[in-house]
Order: sequence, then structure tokens, then C-alpha cells
Amino acid sequence: MDKLDIKLWSLAAKGQIVPDRSLLKTPDQIEAIKKSAALNTAVLDHVAAHICEGMNTAEIDRLVYDYTTAHGGIPAPLNYQGFPKSVCTSVNNVVCHGIPDENEILKNGDIINVDVSTILDGYFSDASRMFTIGSISGRAAKIVKVTEECVELGLKEAKPWGHLGDIASAINTHARQNGYSVVEDIGGHGIGLEFHEDPYVSYVTPKGSEMVLVPGMMFTIEPMINEGGPDFYVDEKNGWTVYTMDGGLSAQIEYMVLITEKGAEVLTR
Ligand code: CO
Repeated sequence: MDKLDIKLWSLAAKGQIVPDRSLLKTPDQIEAIKKSAALNTAVLDHVAAHICEGMNTAEIDRLVYDYTTAHGGIPAPLNYQGFPKSVCTSVNNVVCHGIPDENEILKNGDIINVDVSTILDGYFSDASRMFTIGSISGRAAKIVKVTEECVELGLKEAKPWGHLGDIASAINTHARQNGYSVVEDIGGHGIGLEFHEDPYVSYVTPKGSEMVLVPGMMFTIEPMINEGGPDFYVDEKNGWTVYTMDGGLSAQIEYMVLITEKGAEVLTR
């Protein structure tokens, strides 16, 4: 047992949820995962440079596939549990896991989440951004802005020896203050050696609850914020696309973070 084991052991003895040592990335792993994350960011930048009104979401899928593979990577969503495309594109009332489709054309006023996940040399990275098409309504602009603020406020709470619930509580509080709700039962996740690792990251849990944050942990901060209620349903035909139950707008932004000795580092955003 080293010093860290003793610290984790004593926290666990006090009833705290602590990460297994296997969830704490080694310096070599961190270096390799950072390369994957850098490519992931470059893919998102590539999408940002080309996304526009009149484009269909299958063209976004093509941009992601071509750019990722040209740089030696593999899009992590492709064939993941049967997902048919290389990226998730979630427009307006789609909460997440939208499937790119050549018949879905981006129009003036749309808001869209593009969720990019990359495998490079066997290491995983994941981030998503909101894009706005043409001139959007005040209503749409507000949910995008508040979602950005939620993720930034969550990030401020990401520090060693805090808790996942501190991040969740900052996000949920800000969303609710703005009249919004946070989706429950779909959350973030550990990442790096696999696409989805422990811990599951909820954005509705109380401050001080859930897993203790320990240097070397890597996970996503990716709340889904709904204009109306938090309820959703999954498309019966494709088994993936998640819609708001009430038809209201939904926005999501995802950062992939590493807990360090001093705070947190965003690896891809
Ligand atoms: Co994710």
C-alpha cells in the first residue's frame, strides 16, 4: 500500500465512494489519451469550419469520418453497440444520440449538438459543441448560453478531493435558476482506455455526494439541459434518438476532463 492507497482506504472507511486504482490514469496513459483528445478537438474544429445552413447532417458525418481517418483515428461511435454513423447530431428537440441523415437539412434558426468521439492508438476521447444555424430566436440563444454557463460552473467544481456531486449541483442549480431542467438517467462517464468507463456521472445529484475526485481520474462533463421538463423518449424505430417528451428545446455541451493535483484540465472541448 502506498500513501494514495491509504488515503483512499481511509475515505472508503468513512463511507465515501472512492475510485478503484484502475480508474486513475498513469502518466503514459495520460500522454496517449491527450493525443486522442487533440485529434478529437481538431475534428470538432473541422466541423465548426464547415457547418452551415442547407447542409444535411449526413454531410457532417462524412466530414467527421474523413477527417478522423485521414489523421489515423477511428470515430468511436461507428458500430458502437450498433450505432450506424461516426458522430451524433442532435437538432432542436433532440436531447442526444441523433443519427446523421441525408434527409435532415439544417435550416435557419436551428440549434444542433455535434458529439464527436475519437479512438487514436486505442485511446478514447469525447466532446461535443452546440452550433447555431443562421439567426436563431432569443429562446434558442438563451438555452445555448445557459448550457455553456452550466458546463463552465461544473468545471469550476472539478478538483481533487471534491465530489462528482459538487459538479452536478453547480450545473443543476444554474439550470433551474434559469427555468430549465437537467435530464436524469442519461449522464457522463469515465473515459480514456474505453469509450464508457466508470464512474457514471449524474448532473442531478447533491453537492458532496457520489464519487470522490482523485488526481488521474478522467470523465466527461456533459449535461443535457431541457427548456421544459426533463422527460424524454427514445425513437422506437432506430433505438437511439432521444427526444424531449414535451417537444421543448434541448442543449448539451461536453468537456472531457482530467483531475490533476491542482484542479482539472480540459482535454477536449
Ligand atoms: Co460522452
